[in-house]
Amino acid sequence: MLYGANPMNKIRLMALSLTFSLAGLAQAADPVNVPDLAKANGCFSCHGMTEKVVGPAYSSVAQRYAGQKDAVADLMMSIQNGSTGKWGRMAMPSHPSLAKDDVKRLAEWILTVKK
Ligand code: HEC
Repeated sequence: MLYGANPMNKIRLMALSLTFSLAGLAQAADPVNVPDLAKANGCFSCHGMTEKVVGPAYSSVAQRYAGQKDAVADLMMSIQNGSTGKWGRMAMPSHPSLAKDDVKRLAEWILTVKK
C-alpha cells in the first residue's frame, strides 16, 4: 500500500478526503433559499411580496426596475446602505452585517417578484 508504512500519512489522507467531501456538501446545499434569507433578516417586517407595508411591495420594486441594466447594483446599494426618498417619506435602514453575496441574492430575487 502506498501510504501504509506511516500511519500519519493515512490520517492526513483521510482528513484531506473529508475536507473535499465537506466542500462538496457545501456546494450541494446551494442554492440558498432566498425567501428564507429575507425572512431571517427581517425584510418581511417592512415589505410584502405584493402588498406595500412600510416599504414598497417587492413586486412594485421589480416593476419599477424592470429592464434597467443597473437594477441589481442599485438595489444592492439600497439594501446595504439604506434608502430614502425613492418611494415615499419612510426610510429603509442600512443592513451593514449582511454578506455581499446575500445582498446580491436578495436584490436578484426581488427583481423576479411578480404581482
Ligand atoms: C424598517 C423597515 C424596513 C426593513 C426592515 C427593510 N426595508 Fe427595504 N425599504 C423600506 C422602505 C421604507 C423603503 C423605501 C425607501 C425609499 O423610499 O427610498 C425600502 C426600499 C427597499 C427596496 C427598494 C430600494 C430602491 O432603491 O428602490 C428594496 C430592494 C428593499 N427595500 C429591500 C429590502 C431587503 C432585502 C430587506 C431585508 C434585508 C429590507 N428591505 C428591509 C423599509 C424597510
